[in-house]
Amino acid sequence: MKKFFFTAVLTAASFNTGAVSLTSEQQLGEVLYKDKNLSLNSNQSCESCHALKPSISATKSVNGLVPGFVDTVNVVNGTAVSVGSVQGESGTLNSPSVAYAAFSPKFRYDTPKGEYIGGQFWNGRAADLIQQAQEPFLNPVEMAMTDELSVIERLRGNSQYANQFKQLYNVNINDSRDVQRTYRSLAQAISAFETSEVFNKFNSKFDYSLAGATNLSAIEQQGFNLFKGKAKCAVCHKIDVTVDNNGTKRPPLFTYFGYENNGLPRNVNIPNNPIPDLGLGGRPDIALNSEIGKHKMKTLRNVELTPPYGHNGVFKTLEEVVHFYNTRDVLPRVTNNNSVGFGKTAWAAPEVTDNLNTTQMGNLRLNANEEKAVVTFLKTLTDDYPIWGKDASIPVGTPSPFNVKASLPSPSAMRPR
Ligand code: HEC
Ligand code: HEC
Repeated sequence: MKKFFFTAVLTAASFNTGAVSLTSEQQLGEVLYKDKNLSLNSNQSCESCHALKPSISATKSVNGLVPGFVDTVNVVNGTAVSVGSVQGESGTLNSPSVAYAAFSPKFRYDTPKGEYIGGQFWNGRAADLIQQAQEPFLNPVEMAMTDELSVIERLRGNSQYANQFKQLYNVNINDSRDVQRTYRSLAQAISAFETSEVFNKFNSKFDYSLAGATNLSAIEQQGFNLFKGKAKCAVCHKIDVTVDNNGTKRPPLFTYFGYENNGLPRNVNIPNNPIPDLGLGGRPDIALNSEIGKHKMKTLRNVELTPPYGHNGVFKTLEEVVHFYNTRDVLPRVTNNNSVGFGKTAWAAPEVTDNLNTTQMGNLRLNANEEKAVVTFLKTLTDDYPIWGKDASIPVGTPSPFNVKASLPSPSAMRPR
């Protein structure tokens, strides 16, 4: 473990996921996750939009040290959406981080809570990671393959895959009767990788402070208090430590994977200026007025590393996000997000006004110092604190204070029943 971190610091350029012990299924998943040959023009993999390598332009303190699992092009350029395998094609939504996505429960209507919970994508349309991983290959604005068979044919070009799929899933990738099972196994391997410690580290400064191994600074602590109190963030970005049936403590995920309409302004800089995304209520299988405009609440872990923010990437910085929660309903309105003053002294109208949350946001009455404290607190949620923290109590190589392996979602829970 120690050796790995040491190497990672010295050779950030050749950063790899090396040290974490992966099962053979997760190792296959890693190779598939990185395989560009599985896109139409052999130029794009999952990794292109959900990078495993640190971005060099993330904020100064963690520059080049910690991966954010997003599209580093967007991080560097501030663009909101990713380009696809086919030149000139791009999506209409911000590529989210894959970190901690494995914890999102299967999409469902939670009757006691009276709301939809979980799933993958901003609108939860994939029930779980296995369903999710089947989409990008065939999405015309992403990897753009024509059908499942065309993806499998690319797998067939690689003799290693034939053996591994046979061993792990007992499927023959060269047998046309096994196409569907092979395609599903491909997604299963990738989801197993996404459920590994590579994406779910629980080693942020916040985690060590929760475990009593280090202390938050005064301003970080002030930010945390506001987060739990006056700023109301923790109503949605939950901070509870949960304990499972085996007594394993699971540190907070900073979300319960619910859905809300925060009233984000339209981002007129997305190519072709698409119509506003209706989120959960825009899904043909849901289509309820009561769900229009709602998008999934994400974990805030590593959020420092993943600009721009929101489903349409309209916010460039965390400062802007917090200022928006604080002043959405107070500041004057300008035409759009390119107008003078936007993000500082003014906002543009919400792109979808149905179901706008006005209970926990819009006018929090935080002063400028309090906004700053909340932002400072959010930066304690960046993983790999032993590498970037320069904290004598948490030297390089210190493991997460939690039993990470035990708190990962069980892969079997994700398998079809
Ligand atoms: C061209 C960029 C691109 C590529 C390539 C891509 N994704 Fe994504 N990914 C996105 C975007 C954009 C979204 C959000 C789309 C939405 O919500 O409708 C997303 C969403 C996700 C999510 C959901 C996360 C969450 O919190 O809801 C996961 C998981 C994910 N992608 C994994 C993958 C995997 C696995 C692959 C490869 C098989 C992949 N992606 C390939 C851009 C990409
Ligand atoms: C009522 C629930 C709710 C509350 C309260 C709330 N959030 Fe959120 N948060 C969300 C949802 C939902 C999203 C995604 C919204 C979207 O993209 O349309 C989100 C997105 C974010 C994002 C962007 C994440 C990303 O990956 O793009 C940040 C940062 C954030 N919230 C921080 C905060 C902070 C800080 C507070 C307190 C000041 C707060 N939130 C309060 C529900 C909430």
